[in-house]
Amino acid sequence: MRRTVIAGNWKMNMTPAQTKAFIAELAPMVAGMDKCDIVLCVPYVDIATAVEAAKGTNIKIGAENVHFAESGAYTGEISAKMLCEIGTEYVVIGHSERRQYFGETDATVNLRTKAALAAGLKVILCLGEVKDERLNGITDEVVAMQTKLDLLGVSAEEMKNVIIAYEPVWAIGTGLTATPDQADETCGVIRRTLAELYGIELAESTTIQYGGSMNDGNAAELLAKVNVDGGLIGGASLKTDKFTAIIKAANS
Ligand code: PGA
Repeated sequence: MRRTVIAGNWKMNMTPAQTKAFIAELAPMVAGMDKCDIVLCVPYVDIATAVEAAKGTNIKIGAENVHFAESGAYTGEISAKMLCEIGTEYVVIGHSERRQYFGETDATVNLRTKAALAAGLKVILCLGEVKDERLNGITDEVVAMQTKLDLLGVSAEEMKNVIIAYEPVWAIGTGLTATPDQADETCGVIRRTLAELYGIELAESTTIQYGGSMNDGNAAELLAKVNVDGGLIGGASLKTDKFTAIIKAANS
């Protein structure tokens, strides 16, 4: 009923030359694994190379951020139109590293999301609680609030192009993973919030990924959970064998 999506988030890794070599190696390894969508979200400078290298394969290419204005005096930023013109299909928005290091807030995440959707990009919207919030038992409230704020003004029609990535901040790049039950429960909270906002049918058809130290060893267990419809993968997306193993788990 809803599509499983396995997306890599390369963060600040890989040059264009490395991107070309990586995709040339990955493409035959994942050929025919069509029970999930396969996406690589890569640094801006790698996108054109990645799009070219992925032509004719089942690998789709995304960016790791996008600005909310159409153009203008925003030194160092990249617009949705620029991304579309070079063949970008997806964009990660609201990653915790953007929120933590670059002052991203739910308000700017919301603006970026609306701009990306208006331009026709598919959005991978990231949200999740920090460690103190989980320890204090307020995870459900936090993710419900983020879901509502980040999606303010996004229409039901536009939601067809939105994937939510639930990423507990304490699990990102730390080697700590949410247990499959924790991932399932919190993805379930997000789904219930979507049902409140858009109705049950839309909530049931929206892809909700888990992210946070997903790897070849734990992917199968996480992906088996009813509310986990894929993964957003950092570290393990930088190695073709590990990334392929996760895609394989999503195809079994
Ligand atoms: P990680 O990163 O898999 O390295 O924990 C996940 C992410 O940041 O999306």
